Amino acid sequence: METSSVATPLLLHYSCGYVDITVDSVLFNDFQYTGKLAIGLLGLAEMGKIVFGDNLPVLQGLPDASVDLIYIDPPFNTGKRQERDRIKTVHDEANGDRTGFAGRRYQTIHLGKSGYEDVFDDYMAFLAPRFEEAHRVLAATGSFFLHIDYREVHYCKVLLDQIFGRDSFMNEIIWAYDYGARSKKKWSAKHDSILWYAKDPSDYTFCYEEMDRIPYMAPGLVGKEKAARGKTPTDVWWHTIVSPNGKEKTGYATQKPLGVLERLVKVHSKPGDLLLDFFAGSGTLGEAAAKLNRDYLLIDNNPEAIQTMIHRLAPTNPELIGFDVVCQDNRERGLTANRQPPSIG
Ligand SMILES: C[S@@+](CC[C@H](N)C(=O)[O-])C[C@H]1O[C@@H](n2cnc3c(N)ncnc32)[C@H](O)[C@@H]1O
Repeated sequence: METSSVATPLLLHYSCGYVDITVDSVLFNDFQYTGKLAIGLLGLAEMGKIVFGDNLPVLQGLPDASVDLIYIDPPFNTGKRQERDRIKTVHDEANGDRTGFAGRRYQTIHLGKSGYEDVFDDYMAFLAPRFEEAHRVLAATGSFFLHIDYREVHYCKVLLDQIFGRDSFMNEIIWAYDYGARSKKKWSAKHDSILWYAKDPSDYTFCYEEMDRIPYMAPGLVGKEKAARGKTPTDVWWHTIVSPNGKEKTGYATQKPLGVLERLVKVHSKPGDLLLDFFAGSGTLGEAAAKLNRDYLLIDNNPEAIQTMIHRLAPTNPELIGFDVVCQDNRERGLTANRQPPSIG
């Protein structure tokens, strides 16, 4: 890890985040670990890297053909600020405003809002050099996935065809969900697109046997054995969004479901491979990678994303690049920026 001299603090105080801190032990969801973040939870070897900074210079510093799979989910250029309320709940039988497991009462504490701007003057000009770097750093048998919304997908497809070649376009995966309000004026848009490009369309990692199975719509029309085994998914993936009240939720706006990323990682990479997300947000790709024994490199330029990833991926003991973790006093830790361009070996 690069740790050069400490510059401007980023003002990330865990004590006003959503973990409780004591002097040397951090309460992390259901886990507790002692000492510095760099010590790791389960005695695991250091795994993965989290980089704070603009992704373009970081990508430019990566060697050619060094990454086995890239998944990115850039801001969708919605023209709005992406925001979400962050809350934590504490056990409080007397004044609780929520009911949890076994009828226990919990009080909701509002921790403020988290978010980032999602407005670009020229979205394609922002994406193009990053797509070019993605193509360069991708290994010969590697795949690139772009998660994007229905308003931008067509422009991105044209751009990616130019960079990867039309033959490298493999699928447009539709992630379909069913949540939120419905329009009375048009068909409600309840899907995102995930464009898949293989660097070499004649030789790419695709582990068919690793595909999960889903139920047949009409199991009565196939034999009992087939019905019990289920069928392989198509390019339309039905999967619920991250539940606003569920365990998976990190509180980071635009967090994507782990189930979608796990399916993708299982089929398009192998254990030990290096996976890259350079618009990493809450680090969903990192969690999928770690669960499936892959290495990960996550980049984001938003301090709140970095904070979320550190908490989420602490059990894998990631290397932290582009900032230092410093202990400010007995109650608080802060992240301190190291504004030097990070170098990754
Ligand atoms: C849609 S979110 C990613 C969400 C992520 N897939 C998840 O599951 O949590 C896009 C992320 O891109 C980050 N971002 C935007 N511009 C960036 C840049 N130039 N360099 C690095 N990260 C950037 C934002 O801070 C934001 O966290």
